Amino acid sequence: MIEVRDVTKRFGTTVALNSVSFRLDQGEILGFLGPNGAGKSTAMKIITTFLAPDEGTVTVDGVDVLEQPLAVRGRIGYLPESVPLYVDMNVQEYLEFVGRARGLEGARLKTRFDWCVQACGLVTELKRPINELSKGFRQRTGLAQALIHDPDILILDEPTSGLDPLQILGIRDLIRSLASQKSIIFSTHILQEVPPVTDRVIIINEGRIVADGKIAELTRQAFGADSQFERDLEAAAAALARGHAAEAVAMQKARLALEDTFIALTKQGGRGKGVGLHA
Ligand SMILES: Nc1ncnc2c1ncn2[C@@H]1O[C@H](COP(=O)(O)OP(=O)(O)OP(=O)(O)O)[C@@H](O)[C@H]1O
Ligand SMILES: [Mg+2]
Repeated sequence: MIEVRDVTKRFGTTVALNSVSFRLDQGEILGFLGPNGAGKSTAMKIITTFLAPDEGTVTVDGVDVLEQPLAVRGRIGYLPESVPLYVDMNVQEYLEFVGRARGLEGARLKTRFDWCVQACGLVTELKRPINELSKGFRQRTGLAQALIHDPDILILDEPTSGLDPLQILGIRDLIRSLASQKSIIFSTHILQEVPPVTDRVIIINEGRIVADGKIAELTRQAFGADSQFERDLEAAAAALARGHAAEAVAMQKARLALEDTFIALTKQGGRGKGVGLHA
């Protein structure tokens, strides 16, 4: 579905991506983690054809991003870090405009519009000019535009940024519900967001992939299956192994494991040294 091979991207002397390779298969959800400046957004911009790689290749459904960028864009819904919203339009005008630009019209446009408005919780804001929207509603509008043409692939750069806790749960549920039909890459700084949505993560640091796999495998690689950390959690889980308590402990375990794995794999340096890893 998405194949990234040996991609390098430089900005002057900064190597934003250094020989990055990974693949995403149909129906997979991938959590993209890394400290500030790691290269997450750069990788997403290259996959979505908004930046060209200096070296390496990216194909989407076998189509090369440099050879046929428009064909690639049609298959992808992209929520960029800063969504280019047309501030003079209201939410409805904007989403209809984007829908038409992506080839929707008539009943199909209406069906997709209604679905996106509902799914992204925008019902109350339709007539509001975009420049009056709160940050969270701007983000939801950005998400709606990524979904409007019902793409097979979603590339979401920090989709929950600026959202309130309830809406974060809503977006998490939305991503999960889309997973059966779509392939999704989402980036986040909030490690706790990953395990409820997917168990596959890539951790990127200083432009290099430092981990790619299932959370449980990565934790084993980082700490060993028999670490004290694992044993403490197993003991707690055993003590609480009743009904919902066990489920809660399992989730907590996944969260802690990912957090420790992330820190272990990225603490050697990093462009965003020491600040905001948990922001
Ligand atoms: N247009 C640009 N010009 C120059 N340098 C850039 C540009 N875009 C990104 N960079 C640099 O490339 C590196 C990777 O940036 P990128 O935005 O991909 O990181 P990120 O992982 O998305 O970080 P964040 O978590 O802060 O969003 C950083 O050092 C950044 O300063
Ligand atoms: Mg970014």
